[in-house]
Amino acid sequence: MAVLRTEALCKAFAGRVIFEDVALELERGEALALMGASGSGKTTLLRCLNGLELADRGVVTVGDARIVAGDSHERLHEAVRAVRRRVGFVFQDAHLFSHRTVLENVMEGPRYVKKEGEPEAHARALSLLAKVGVAHRAGAYPRELSGGEQQRAASRARARDGSGDSVARRAHERARNRDRAETLVALFARLASPRAFRS
Ligand SMILES: Nc1ncnc2c1ncn2[C@@H]1O[C@H](COP(=O)(O)OP(=O)(O)OP(=O)(O)O)[C@@H](O)[C@H]1O
Ligand SMILES: [Mg+2]
Repeated sequence: MAVLRTEALCKAFAGRVIFEDVALELERGEALALMGASGSGKTTLLRCLNGLELADRGVVTVGDARIVAGDSHERLHEAVRAVRRRVGFVFQDAHLFSHRTVLENVMEGPRYVKKEGEPEAHARALSLLAKVGVAHRAGAYPRELSGGEQQRAASRARARDGSGDSVARRAHERARNRDRAETLVALFARLASPRAFRS
């Protein structure tokens, strides 16, 4: 019997469809990796699995708990509590100011540390965001961004606040990403082994 199942799961943000009709099923002992471009909806789907985000349509079943989109507030609340007792979650984290937009985060250092003028800081922040492919999300708050978008915006915010040498940091980030990739491969190999699920 499946320990986790989604049926016809759909989610849109402000009319923009993030995913549609997602149906997946996991048996005990199975490991599943979601892969896709940054911003393609991986975290949003995971958030729907434990009720951090509610899908617009569809059903999430974890054991005997069911989150049914469109149910009453009380039933959803109860279902989410039941699901969370069974699902663990590890967050991506980028350390942006949550009360400021992405653009304001990138402008913060130049404006308040380097005392750069508003128009100049604004223009340069936008061009930096364009270089990492998130200029279209400049007016959004960090919680409205994907993890990778947040990390790319944060890299521009840090590059602009004068903290450290950016070439050294990029080399360090590359090394760290490589380490992480190797650690993840090892982790999935361990999870895929039936022994990982014995208690
Ligand atoms: N609360 C929100 N409001 C509006 N848009 C959002 C919100 N959360 C996420 N988005 C947008 O939905 C899309 C999917 O985001 P999601 O975080 O699921 O991506 P992801 O696949 O996990 O990306 P990454 O690999 O960068 O972590 C992105 O374009 C993001 O900007
Ligand atoms: Mg993500």
